[in-house]
Amino acid sequence: MNNFSYATPTRLIFGKDSIDKLVESLKPYGNRVLFAYGGGSIKKIGLYQKVMELLSDFKVFELPGIEPNPEYSTSVCDGVRICKENKIDVILAVGGGSVLDCCKAIACGSKYDGECWDLITRKAKIVDALPIVDILTLAATGSEYDAGGVISRRSTNDKIGFGSVHCFPKVSILDPVYTFSVSPKQTSAGGSDAISHVLEQYFAHETTMLTDLMCAATIKSLMANTKKALVNSNDYEARAELMLACSLACNDILSLGNSSSGWPCHAIEHALSGYFNITHGEGLAIITPHWMRYILNDKTLHRFVRFGIDVMDVNPNLSDYEIANEGINRLEKFFSDINIPKNLRSVGIDSKLEEMAHHIYINEHVSNPNCFYPLNEEDVLNILKLSM
Ligand code: NZQ
Ligand code: ZN
Repeated sequence: MNNFSYATPTRLIFGKDSIDKLVESLKPYGNRVLFAYGGGSIKKIGLYQKVMELLSDFKVFELPGIEPNPEYSTSVCDGVRICKENKIDVILAVGGGSVLDCCKAIACGSKYDGECWDLITRKAKIVDALPIVDILTLAATGSEYDAGGVISRRSTNDKIGFGSVHCFPKVSILDPVYTFSVSPKQTSAGGSDAISHVLEQYFAHETTMLTDLMCAATIKSLMANTKKALVNSNDYEARAELMLACSLACNDILSLGNSSSGWPCHAIEHALSGYFNITHGEGLAIITPHWMRYILNDKTLHRFVRFGIDVMDVNPNLSDYEIANEGINRLEKFFSDINIPKNLRSVGIDSKLEEMAHHIYINEHVSNPNCFYPLNEEDVLNILKLSM
């Protein structure tokens, strides 16, 4: 096991009516609040109105309309401007991963004199950020319990992950009831995103029995409860387990002491949504089985055997390659069962494969020799072609 230093300083307040703790969560940070949210789902479920009631003693500034795959030139820049002009004390992010990620960028940009994009591209170091409190409405990214965010800039087809300890939310309020209204499409995409987060940690050279089995348990829970939530959108236990599993899937706790995998499927997907603005979890679910088959060989086989037996419950008496391939087939079947689109063409990607492969190879460190399976530009292109 490798040495590590680890902390997640975010307080999770979990369960029905946890919004009752909103005022006491915000108060320590000041009175001037930026209330940021997405395209209107929080108004449909009455959450906007509830937040405004609770914030009656605060001075509230609003940033509505944060888009899925949040855009730098609009949402992030507007948010930074509002925070700077109005001396905002604390940001309240209410929504899914896109709203939370956008608020993380705003929080850093508001404490920086230069261009916020430099912080996202790591040209400048993040040394401070406004505090963030969030109310999560979609179980998926884990942004509520991690230090990272992903911001798009469509003029350059960039979609870039950034992060800093300063970006951990101070408090995340997680009430599964707010996710009852999440559509079947976003429920499936969210579950798939979280499954991918676990797989990106699972396929590494150095792991332990402990982390292997924590990963297996998390994926099994995500698969079972995504299916349950699709059958009954208001199934509290299913929505609750999904929410907690998603939070745990992306904050490194499942890979403590392990070597790094390189997160190849995310590297590829970020370019797909950077170029075509697709739904992140769908892109991942389409690519992952193809990436798996592409990298399966004698050197990687042992990992796929563990995956087949521990995660996908494949019969351990089969041959190693049979176990590996059956594990991948079962994962692919699961994605199909939850109505993930079949291929990249079905989500509108019909061109620019070479351009995207080059972009990924140049920008995403997929060829780093420490990755579980380093990919060159041709490998990336081949995986994209197989996913069409
Ligand atoms: O905008 P509104 O109206 O709120 O609607 C949203 C949006 O259209 C809707 N939605 C959210 N909560 C809802 C709801 N609809 C009904 N009822 C509710 N309770 O769902 C749609 C998608 O929302 P979005 O926030 O975009 O989804 P998600 O949470 O999947 O976030 C995706 C973004 O997060 C990034 C992705 O790349 C993508 O940009 N990621 C962030 C990560 C992180 N911070 O650690 C890691 C991930 O790997 C990922 O890259
Ligand atoms: Zn993801």
